[in-house]
Amino acid sequence: MIYPIVVYGAQVLREKAQPIAPDYPEVKKLIEDMFLTLDEAEGVGLAAPQIGKSIRLFIVDCTPWGEEHPELADFRRAFINPEIYEMSEETKLYEEGCLSLPGLHESVRRSLAIRMRYLDEDFQPHDEEFVGLPAWVIQHEYDHLEGTVFTDRLSPLRRNLIKSKLLNLAKGRYRCTYKTK
Ligand code: NI
Repeated sequence: MIYPIVVYGAQVLREKAQPIAPDYPEVKKLIEDMFLTLDEAEGVGLAAPQIGKSIRLFIVDCTPWGEEHPELADFRRAFINPEIYEMSEETKLYEEGCLSLPGLHESVRRSLAIRMRYLDEDFQPHDEEFVGLPAWVIQHEYDHLEGTVFTDRLSPLRRNLIKSKLLNLAKGRYRCTYKTK
């Protein structure tokens, strides 16, 4: 099933999401549905809180960059109970958007590389380094599990400039091509 995407202003986007136990029902089906939802919305990442579930799970799809970056051509992955434990001092500015903040695009500074422990969809543990585009998307999705959205990372001045846009989102005044709630 395709889930409606929760938009800025909803409380669930502000909560710290809870770890998932191995007996959590139908995680694979949930991940499958999240990918359907992500594809429908033409995004590159989706965190469970964005479909109203306050659990520590997100998916990342880097395949849209596959032509320019062949190593990403099959990068479609799910991350359960992730823990970023190292972030490079070297940073980069990325022009960022979010399915939960339709119409907003702002530059956000993120680490170029990260190290993360996580479980895959079979609950197998991994410890892995991510660099460049995957590291960028992962940091954005990881923020969602902490109750943070990308506009929180803007300077106070910049945030003030987009205040009315954020208010409109919270009031339901926005347009987008995918289903929201
Ligand atoms: Ni987002």
